[in-house]
Amino acid sequence: MVKIQEPSPPTLHWEGDESGVLRLLDQTLLPETVRVLEIQDSKSLIGAIQRLSIRGAPALGVAAAYGAVLLARESRDTQSFLQGLEALRSSRPTAVNLFLALDRAEALARKSLAEGINISQLPTLLLTQAKETHRHDQQTCLAMGIHGAELIQDGMRILTHCNTGRFATAGIGTAFGVLVTAQAQGKDFFVFADETRPLLQGARLTAFEIKERNMKGSLLCDGAGPGLILSGEIDAILVGADRIAANGDTANKVGTLPLAMAAQRAGIPFYVVAPSTTLDISTPSGNQIPIEERDPKEVTLGLGDGKCPKEFSARNPAFDVTPADLISGLVTEKGLALPPVQTWIQDWAANCR
Ligand code: MRU
Repeated sequence: MVKIQEPSPPTLHWEGDESGVLRLLDQTLLPETVRVLEIQDSKSLIGAIQRLSIRGAPALGVAAAYGAVLLARESRDTQSFLQGLEALRSSRPTAVNLFLALDRAEALARKSLAEGINISQLPTLLLTQAKETHRHDQQTCLAMGIHGAELIQDGMRILTHCNTGRFATAGIGTAFGVLVTAQAQGKDFFVFADETRPLLQGARLTAFEIKERNMKGSLLCDGAGPGLILSGEIDAILVGADRIAANGDTANKVGTLPLAMAAQRAGIPFYVVAPSTTLDISTPSGNQIPIEERDPKEVTLGLGDGKCPKEFSARNPAFDVTPADLISGLVTEKGLALPPVQTWIQDWAANCR
């Protein structure tokens, strides 16, 4: 058993009983400012999710579970609770963990209300469920870390994209959690972190985590990755996922796909690390995964005013989809699934029913 430090303050945490507050580390201010937001109502949570104060698929799932508690205590009746759930669902479209958490909250609410529970008792029940979702995510991260760390050998140079560490989950992370575990096991490796345009989750958050954990690492501008891969300077790629379709196609932060294509060309492994809460068997393939299109100003103004002609247009798809056949392996809390990952996903789904 390896010992892993939990840095403070945590990414998210509920303080108090059902009348308490959700505390979120405001990720938009990192790395310069460490500020914790106190979220008291569901509308404020939606705002925090939309501006990425809280982000990363598993963390969004846990935040949404707590969001249901906030909503239940604001709701006069079932109707207003269900309408509020729709508002939470529309906060961000791609990470399926958010929807799963809200579906669980809805199922619990419907069952409890049908059994004669009063709406005023709902926050307590939902808080118990949210805390269970929170604990489950922490344990799942640890399990993914153990399975994934078997892929890491001394001397490896690993490329990762976006932020998949403690800021993207309630635990040590998905892809980055594998590196945290490998480090705790005493393995010696080097991490390249893509800066991850336009909102720089790699530069602001992953570089922060690399430094905080005293790992060896360097930042790359997004365009550099494929070239380094083809020139033999990268040994493996580890990324997270926001939604994995039934056929294994995987949506992750925009800029993931070129890494997978380059990895295949170079003959190096491209691994996806994600909890089973990121699997979406109701979405047949990557073509049906909803891709969030964000404000074009994040692209045109992201590096500061005057870096792009005024009022110039931009597209800002926040995710891309890597086809399943480019994925060398999928690490979940259950272990490593090798291609065809579709077969593993089908077996997993059959066992869940
Ligand atoms: O837009 P973001 O920052 O929420 O995107 C996050 C990612 O793309 C992560 O790679 C993904 O959620 C997996 S994280 C554990």
